Amino acid sequence: MDKDLIDVSDENIEIINEGLVEIQVPVFDKVSSKAPVFYNSKMELNRDISILALQTFQKEINREINICDVFGGSGVRALRYKKEIDSVGEVTANDISPLAIEYILANALTNELDIEIHQKEANILLREHRGEFDVIDIDPFGTPSYFVDSVGYSLKKDSLLCITATDTSALCGTYIEPCIRKYNAKSYKSEYCHENGIRILAGFVALTLAKYKKHIEIKLSHSSLHYMRLYIKVNKGSAATDKSLNENMGHIAHCKKCLYRQSFRGLSTFIFEKCPICEEKLAIAGPLWIGKIQNHDFIAKMIENCQDKKHLNTEKQIFKLLKLCLEEANAPITFYDIHVICKNLKISAPKLENVLDNLKKKGFIAIKTHFNPIGIKTDAGIENVKLIVKSSS
Ligand SMILES: C[S@@+](CC[C@H](N)C(=O)[O-])C[C@H]1O[C@@H](n2cnc3c(N)ncnc32)[C@H](O)[C@@H]1O
Repeated sequence: MDKDLIDVSDENIEIINEGLVEIQVPVFDKVSSKAPVFYNSKMELNRDISILALQTFQKEINREINICDVFGGSGVRALRYKKEIDSVGEVTANDISPLAIEYILANALTNELDIEIHQKEANILLREHRGEFDVIDIDPFGTPSYFVDSVGYSLKKDSLLCITATDTSALCGTYIEPCIRKYNAKSYKSEYCHENGIRILAGFVALTLAKYKKHIEIKLSHSSLHYMRLYIKVNKGSAATDKSLNENMGHIAHCKKCLYRQSFRGLSTFIFEKCPICEEKLAIAGPLWIGKIQNHDFIAKMIENCQDKKHLNTEKQIFKLLKLCLEEANAPITFYDIHVICKNLKISAPKLENVLDNLKKKGFIAIKTHFNPIGIKTDAGIENVKLIVKSSS
């Protein structure tokens, strides 16, 4: 295809500089799936973090990596992967839209980057290229659920799956039925519903990949703006897959009256029907991933690798986010929101730092979370949390 297909002098084309690449996209009014070719400047942080995650993964497995950006859009992500990550082999950019393909081609030529370009439906591409990619990036509109089975089929041993979901209303419990249909899991609304959303998506990935005897290890996950993003190492082996599901799948029960919550391990397991504190009927989320959703060593290495990627525009936001995720790596499941606790207690809110200090003085873990600026992850149960919040006012 000829680069001249796209006329850069056209006033309807915008030139964008991001990372170390310059791309062209057709001008559009609103970022939405209706844009002629999709580009969202707000996702620069997401792409910057991806650069660090993929570089860290490459160093960890210590071989050249072949990457597939299955939903290429303008090509910005694939081109940045090719240009900004060391020891990269082949990078593939795919998109179903013929116009997107024209722009990906033109943008690759402008940046003098040699990438593979395909115009295929995502599932077909993944199935036709089984075992070829070390990294598969799934960044669709809305839910990634339609593509996870093909990912399970396609991914090879020792590979990395990067997956974005923007259908947060389903994952976070605003709409119950869509979550059941797309993720085969129940959700409920709570102050920690974004964490539950990540756990529901991770659980769905784990169960879907299990049929291919593949198991997951989450290296990093975050909920930012309108999306959730997970970086998941995938490995093979039936015994290890059985063990992983056994240890990491479960449910979380929540009392909307007194804010008690409890996780339960196992797919088919005993779960209290009523709150053991106030006897209210419990809301249940799951099946979901109750295992780790952050990996301390991986995130620490990402922070280290940030020193070598000085060009990342969102460096400050990356540091802030990664430091919180690093702390969360060893934190208990779910978190408490100080304002929600205070509303429940009908008292005014104390300073977050006072509550953190007082929890620690009593010997409890007390950690901030990236999910919520007034959230606390702690091993103190709800009754102790309430006592400590009251005494911190
Ligand atoms: C959210 S955008 C991708 C953004 C891109 N990854 C980035 O970082 O800028 C989703 C893209 O997926 C493409 N798409 C939608 N459905 C698809 C499918 N079933 N198979 C392949 N591509 C698809 C759309 O044309 C659109 O360009």
